[in-house]
Amino acid sequence: MCSCRDKCSANRKESTEVLSAADRGIHLVLLGAPGAGKGTQAKHLSAKYGLAHISSGNLLRDELTRGTKLAAEIKGYMDKGQLVPDSIIIDLIINHVKGLESPNWMLDGFPRTASQAKALKAAKELYLTHIIELQVDQEAVVKRLGGRRFDPTTGNTYHVDFDPPPADIADRVIIRDDDKEEVIRERFVIYEKNKKLIADTFGDAVTVVSCEGLSIEEVSARVDAVIDGRQE
Ligand code: AP5
Repeated sequence: MCSCRDKCSANRKESTEVLSAADRGIHLVLLGAPGAGKGTQAKHLSAKYGLAHISSGNLLRDELTRGTKLAAEIKGYMDKGQLVPDSIIIDLIINHVKGLESPNWMLDGFPRTASQAKALKAAKELYLTHIIELQVDQEAVVKRLGGRRFDPTTGNTYHVDFDPPPADIADRVIIRDDDKEEVIRERFVIYEKNKKLIADTFGDAVTVVSCEGLSIEEVSARVDAVIDGRQE
């Protein structure tokens, strides 16, 4: 093992099993608080790098929309902004990713607990190439989420001011049930509680991208730099 600590890719590979994109496609995890912009950046990354977008929140909302057997089990948690149990979400996500045809994918909203992070790390065939945390100021995000609009047909996210939905879908976008201030604050509390536990699992493989005061395009440029290996 190389003796230099932080920037050394040899160390990162050995200690975290995170491989470079050049090795075997892009397998990206996007971490970040509620409203940090994970879904927004996922839309950009899908278009730019052809990544399949696996959003745990969208998969769960799809179960609710379809009124599946699982829907009754998860609705109460989601309405209150609480995490659905690991026993449900881990299998749902890991099986979904294993079934993908695309060699390039990104996870948005998973992992969110230490158990989820450990399960992902233990699934060796799902080796990760990038783990990016979008870092935001929580108060700014609480205000921002008030303008969020969600397209239930595509799963895409918009904002009335910063990223307005195109005119042809403006009638079908909705306000998410969990975008009420008290529910948003509960989601923040849970995120903060679990953040360190996830960081403990992945260690220095996590690249933090500060999004403070940046436009959507400026954040995209920073994320692209990480993926392309241009970040200092
Ligand atoms: P989920 O859907 O994953 O919600 P979340 O993590 O709370 O994340 P959000 O979707 O709220 O935010 P985001 O980071 O994607 O931000 P966005 O891009 O939309 O989860 C929902 C629920 O499902 C959970 O509460 C839980 O119950 C359950 N769940 C999901 N995953 C689970 C798991 N792993 N385990 C257990 N339970 C789970 O951006 C927000 C807004 O800001 C948008 O309007 C956007 O247009 C705008 N915006 C984005 N970037 C910028 C910018 N730079 N400047 C200005 N506006 C911006």
